[in-house]
This record gives sequence, C-alpha cells and structure tokens, in this order.
Amino acid sequence: MTKLSVRHLLGIKNLNESDIQTILETATQFKEVINRPIKKVPSLRDITIANVFFENSTRTRLSFELAEKRLSADVVNFSSSGSSVKKGETLLDTVNNILAMKVDMIVMRHSSPGAPHYLASRIDANVVNAGDGTHEHPTQALLDAFSMKEKLGDLNGKKIAIIGDITHSRVALSNIFCLQKLGAEVMVCGPSTLIPKHLGELGVKVSHNVREALQWCDVANVLRIQLERQQIKYFPSLREYAQFFGINRQMLDELDKEIVLMHPGPINRGVELTSDAADSHHSIILNQVENGVAVRMAVLYLLAQHP
Ligand code: CP
Repeated sequence: MTKLSVRHLLGIKNLNESDIQTILETATQFKEVINRPIKKVPSLRDITIANVFFENSTRTRLSFELAEKRLSADVVNFSSSGSSVKKGETLLDTVNNILAMKVDMIVMRHSSPGAPHYLASRIDANVVNAGDGTHEHPTQALLDAFSMKEKLGDLNGKKIAIIGDITHSRVALSNIFCLQKLGAEVMVCGPSTLIPKHLGELGVKVSHNVREALQWCDVANVLRIQLERQQIKYFPSLREYAQFFGINRQMLDELDKEIVLMHPGPINRGVELTSDAADSHHSIILNQVENGVAVRMAVLYLLAQHP
C-alpha cells in the first residue's frame, strides 16, 4: 500500500501530487464500500478519534463522524460551546486532556488560522485540519477534486473557476493548491474587495466578471459570502452582490457548453446561487457531500498508517 508523505493533514500545501492521487484512489475504493448494503469495514478498529470543533459545522462534522464509524473507529465529539473552554482552558490543555483518555487522532475545526499546525507540533496524535479560519480546508478540496474527477476524468488542463468570497474562504486556498497540483487551470472571480490583492502571484487568473468566468470554465465552484468573518462592508448590499455576482439557471442554460456547478455549502440561496441553479442538472452539490464521507475515510485510513 502507498503511504502518505505526512502524518498530519494540515493543508493541501503540505501534500505532494502523489499524496493527493493516493487519497483520491483510496477514496474510490471506500466509495464502493459505502454503497454496499453493509457499509462498514474493520480498518480502524481499536483506533479512537476525537472530533474537536471550535466552530459551527454541519457537513464536515457529520461527514467525519460517519467516515470514522464506517471504518469501525471509536468516536468522541467535542464542541467548544458547553465545554470548559468557556472557563478559560487553553486549546493545548483541552486537547491534552482529551488525549489523556487514550485518543489516537484529533480532527479539529478552529477559527484561528494555524491552530492545527500549532497542535500538531505539540502533541503525539495525528491531526486532521477540518478548517482553520480563512486558511485551509483540505478535506473539502480533496472531496471537490474527487467530485470533479468523477464528472470530468483527469483534471490535467481542465479549467476551474472559483467564484465568490475568496478573501474569507479556506476552501478557495485549498482548492487552488489541490487543483494546481493536479494540473488544472484556476480562475478566481468576485468583487475586487473579496479577492486578495496578491492572489495572482499563486498563478491563478483573476476576473471580476461572473459571465466571463462561466464562459471560460469547465467547473464553477461557487463560494459562500462569509458575513460572519467580515468586520467591514465589502460590498453595498447582498441584493447588489446577487445582481452582479449571483448565478442563476438561465445564465448556465445560455452557455454554449455544459459546465459543472459546485458549492461546498452552506449555500446562501438567492445570494451566490438561485435555487433554480443550485437544484438544476448542472449542480453536483449533493454528490460533493456524498463523496466527502469516502474521501474522509481515505484520509483517516491513510493517516492511521503513520501512528
Ligand atoms: N463545507 C463545509 O465545511 O460545511 P460545514 O461548515 O457545514 O462543515
């Protein structure tokens, strides 16, 4: 079996192309497993995993928990609300107390960029970054790449437009790293206030015209406006954002080619996507969610080979 070059999944930046291909190939096998009548395998029996979430989540937390249970791991869930973090306990003390209960792996979401890296350098357990602030969301990028490959085959030379709030998105950065390592071309599109000034230095195209981005791409990966991370106003109103950067079904139908529509969720319906676009045949949004379980099974299984 091919091993990963890392013992933590902190970001796509730290993976090489072979790691990514190994994860995607392993996920293909696990997708077959979770579509069987008996969806469980004993691969992580006797491994205990703590899902430690300091930020809200629906998809990622449930997807990791299901992935862990499908692999027969023992699972404990921690969320900061209602915990002793509220009494002033540090991140490291909290995690060390969880590890003292004989936990082998930590899956963590945190609002501070770099929090999982900080932890990984101070504890013995494997650490999986389930989203660190505006920095990286590696398993989202991996499940996005897996879902694109299912639709389009090899991503080498494919054109992917990432549209929306790039500045506050951890999904954008992880997608850029992942897609470029797989040979895809990447464009980011959004209002100039929501695209970091130096992003072009990563070798991505930059556009402020959503119709141009849709015409250029094979896949449009549309991101949420992250109002909870915006301390100032980046655009006049949601109505104006929707008017200039929102995507509706008619815009997709009028293209002279088929493109694939994606969104990591949660969707602001009527802002970045209308319902008739999000629920159209162009969309693979729920396939992304389904694939997330198989991809996370692959990540956990492969990291467990590096105790
Ligand atoms: N895509 C994603 O990370 O969704 P959640 O915030 O619901 O986990």
